[in-house]
Amino acid sequence: MTEKILDRLAKELSPRRLEHSRGVSSAAASLAARYGADVAKARLAGLLHDCARGMPNNLLLQAAAASGIVVNGVEQREPVLLHAPVGVVIAGRDYGVEDPEVLSAIRWHTTGGPVMSLLDEIVFLADYIEPGRSFPGVGHLRELAAASLPEALLAAYDQTLRYLLAEGGLIHPATVEGRNALLMKMKKK
Ligand SMILES: [Fe+2]
Ligand SMILES: [Fe+2]
Repeated sequence: MTEKILDRLAKELSPRRLEHSRGVSSAAASLAARYGADVAKARLAGLLHDCARGMPNNLLLQAAAASGIVVNGVEQREPVLLHAPVGVVIAGRDYGVEDPEVLSAIRWHTTGGPVMSLLDEIVFLADYIEPGRSFPGVGHLRELAAASLPEALLAAYDQTLRYLLAEGGLIHPATVEGRNALLMKMKKK
């Protein structure tokens, strides 16, 4: 099963992205074991989370339109964000994934969102802390991830927002909604 997926992914993704996907898969499996989620589902969702990441912007927009995915203004300007919802379609069509929990984790891995399952949160966080990541502060994020899932998720949202603010980038509404929902759940607000 995994071998077949890896063969196909190797055709769709650059070697660097394939390595990243393997890293997310193993980081997600570790987090699942730590926090009581299904390890096999975490491993699969991690491996496939970026399955549409190799598609150019025009194909992502086309695939979104063909699949009835509603594209908001931010996604129209930054079609790369569509690799998450389009990834759900590709994971189903090309990799035979039917498990709604795995598909949901692929769906929300990029932006986060206001309603995240444990598996969604794990794959979202694993995308940041997989062994190949080397941005400043990743060590602290890994320590947080081992200690507290909500604190690590909050730090991941904050890191994304700080980066986008520094870059003058567009902020996806799901990221703002996701951070707000998390803060309220943590009773920090
Ligand atoms: Fe991604
Ligand atoms: Fe990723």
